[in-house]
This record gives sequence, structure tokens and C-alpha cells, in this order.
Amino acid sequence: MLTGRRILLIVTGGVAAYKAPVLIRRLRDKGAAVTPVLTEGGARFIPPLPLAAVAGEPVRQALFDAEAESAMSHIDLARAADAVVVAPASADMLARMAHGLADDLATTLLLATDAPVLVAPAMNAGMWAHSAMQANMATLEARGVHRAGPAEGDLACGETGPGRMEAPETILSAVEGLFAAGPLAGRTALVTSGPTQEPVDGVRYLGNRSSGRQGHAIAAALARLGATVHLVRGPVAIPDPPGVRVTPVTTADEMHAACLGGLPVDVAVCAAAVADWRVADADDGKLKKGAGRAPPALRLEETPDVLSALAAAGPHRPRLVVGFAAETESVVDNAVAKRARKGADWLLANDVSAGTETFGGAANTVHLVTADGTEAWPRDAKTAVADTLAHRIASALEAP
Ligand code: CTP
Repeated sequence: MLTGRRILLIVTGGVAAYKAPVLIRRLRDKGAAVTPVLTEGGARFIPPLPLAAVAGEPVRQALFDAEAESAMSHIDLARAADAVVVAPASADMLARMAHGLADDLATTLLLATDAPVLVAPAMNAGMWAHSAMQANMATLEARGVHRAGPAEGDLACGETGPGRMEAPETILSAVEGLFAAGPLAGRTALVTSGPTQEPVDGVRYLGNRSSGRQGHAIAAALARLGATVHLVRGPVAIPDPPGVRVTPVTTADEMHAACLGGLPVDVAVCAAAVADWRVADADDGKLKKGAGRAPPALRLEETPDVLSALAAAGPHRPRLVVGFAAETESVVDNAVAKRARKGADWLLANDVSAGTETFGGAANTVHLVTADGTEAWPRDAKTAVADTLAHRIASALEAP
């Protein structure tokens, strides 16, 4: 997929810059030509020589370098690129990109290019979690910038958490994804995943044991087939899939708003285990136990139904609306009724009763319920179920 493609690889300041030569080698192994661009910060972590040696091309560093500019101006360099990859992408670089600065070669190239841009963030976990950083990333993703990682694990600063640059192999597959000519290329998909948490008071919540594995696997499978995927996910412990735009949410209300705000899309898959009820008048403070005080009686009210809302979205209704049905008894019968009630086109019914280990586990047994009837799928890994579903979605969208 990368044969003959020209990749501009911008290396910014971060310890992970030492992995840049490995990434260049992997890209070249796949047939890409790589022009390394080293920022001032990047040059503090890796000298240009190893990058140039592995790329087989000189490294571009300065904006006003008369010699390099006469060989190929920065505008031509930006236009010649089939993709721009920023790896590692420091917090500073992402902030400068979000604000459209053009005060060095890398940021100027990023403004001048029409090619897809992929960033692989790398920084301290606290910096990554900072609301300023997250706002910058959201701005970039809303503009169509693709992201790989960050991965979770031990960080150079001695802390642990999300902030590691993704492995070169993962970044490579995200780069390949930019050129994917799969059956869903040009299609857009919205996927919900994970649980929601509904506050009881300032410190407690109602939740469920959904791991997000099935929904995340579906988002990744759709992206692999070439779709542009927006994943709206509740709080989960698993990493975000690569090459997918992610909106993290906590409550059913937030998921509802993020999903309706994400329309129009070609297909919506609601795999989230959205809480059905929330506590009416949840307290901001902490409910006190207190001597002699009776346990609080929680008054519950229904949350908005995201799947039903998407299926009833009028002119913006996705062409295909797919839901799940978590059932513990009469799995198929309940799912058939649920499909009609919620207005979904397809419903994947799964048995989540005790002993099935569907909730939180790695495998799933599903029945596909459509207007034409019901199909039992064999028990399989959630990733395999996701692949089967993604291919079925591709065939359905191909039909006129
Ligand atoms: N769903 C949703 N919003 C909700 C509740 C559920 O979008 N507030 C979606 C789920 O993502 C799933 C489908 O609806 O795709 C069915 O979820 P399920 O929990 O099986 O159904 P419920 O609506 O909770 O119905 P019941 O409790 O009667 O089984």
C-alpha cells in the first residue's frame, strides 16, 4: 500500500525520538520514500545523521536554509508529500498545530500540505490528560488529523499511564490505514462503546461491567476496511483503537449529545452498555452515612436512549443503524422485539447471563436480527465478531 508513496516524517522533541529510525526503516520496507524533518526540540534527542542514513535522504531542519530551499522549496516539499507523520508528536507541537502556527519548517509544512496528517503523541501522562492538551487534540481531530496512540505503560519520566509513543509497527499500520482502499473507504461510521457512569453524588456512580472490548473492536474493524470512524466511548481501561477519532464521555447524556452532534454518518453501531437509569437530583457533595440516619432512597429516572435517538434522527438518520441487545433470557425473542421498539435496522443479540463471561470477556456469541430474520453466529473472539460485522456493513452499504 505504501509503494511509491512519499512520507514526510516530522520528528519533534521527546525521548521517543530514538524510535524514529525504526519507523523510517519500517516505512521504507513497505516501499515508501521518507523525508525526515527534524525540529529544534527533536534535534536535542536525536542527531540528523542516523535519520538521514536510514532514510537515504538528507534531513530537513531549517525553514530559511537557502541551499535546501533551492533544491526543493518547503512548499514543494509539502505538496510532494502523500502523508505527513508527526512522531513523536510533543505536547508543544500539538498545541502549535492546533493554533496554526508557522514559525519553523515543521509547522509551515503542516499548514502548507493537503496530504493526510497522522500524529503519534508522546508525553508525560499528566500532560496528555491536561484539558488544554485534550482540547488541542480534539481541535486537530475535528480538522481530520489522524492519531495513533499514545500507548499506556512506563514513561521516561518514571510515571505510568497513557503517554508513550505507539510502537513503530502500530504507527506503520495507521499510516497504511491512511491509504486504505477498503470497501468502506469514503464511508463514515459512528460507534459507541463501553459503559456509562451516572453520578449518585459527588463521588459515587451507577455503572456496569462493560469493558468496551466489543465496541472498540468494531471501531477498529471498520477503520481497517477504510471507514472514517468516530468512537464515542464511556470510561474504559483498554486503549483507544488506532486511526480512530475518539470522544470520551462519562454519562448517558454526554454520549447522547456527542452522538447526535456526530451526525451525519453512513452507519452507526451502538455497542455501549448505556446505563438505563440515572439518579434524579444527584447531589454534588458526598451523601453522609451519619449516626442513626436511614440509607438514602435513590429516585431513578430514565436516561436518553442513544440508539433510538439515532434511529429517529430524521434527515440525518444513518443509512444503517445497528444496536446490541444484552439479554439474560429469551435472547432472540427479546431482541426481535427490541429491534422493532428501538427502530434499529440490525440488532446483535448476546446472552450476558452469568457464566457466559460475555460482559468483560474476550469472546461473544451473537444472533444477528434483521428485518429478514435471525442468524446465529458461532461463538468467536470479539475481534472476529467485529470483523464479520464490519464486512456485513460494507456489503449492506454497497447495495443501492
Ligand atoms: N442503548 C442506548 N441508550 C440507552 C440504552 C441502550 O443507546 N439509554 C442501546 C445499547 O447501546 C444497545 C441497545 O440500546 O445497542 C440495547 O441495549 P440493552 O441494554 O440491551 O437494552 P435496554 O434498552 O437496556 O432494554 P432492556 O433493559 O429492556 O433490556
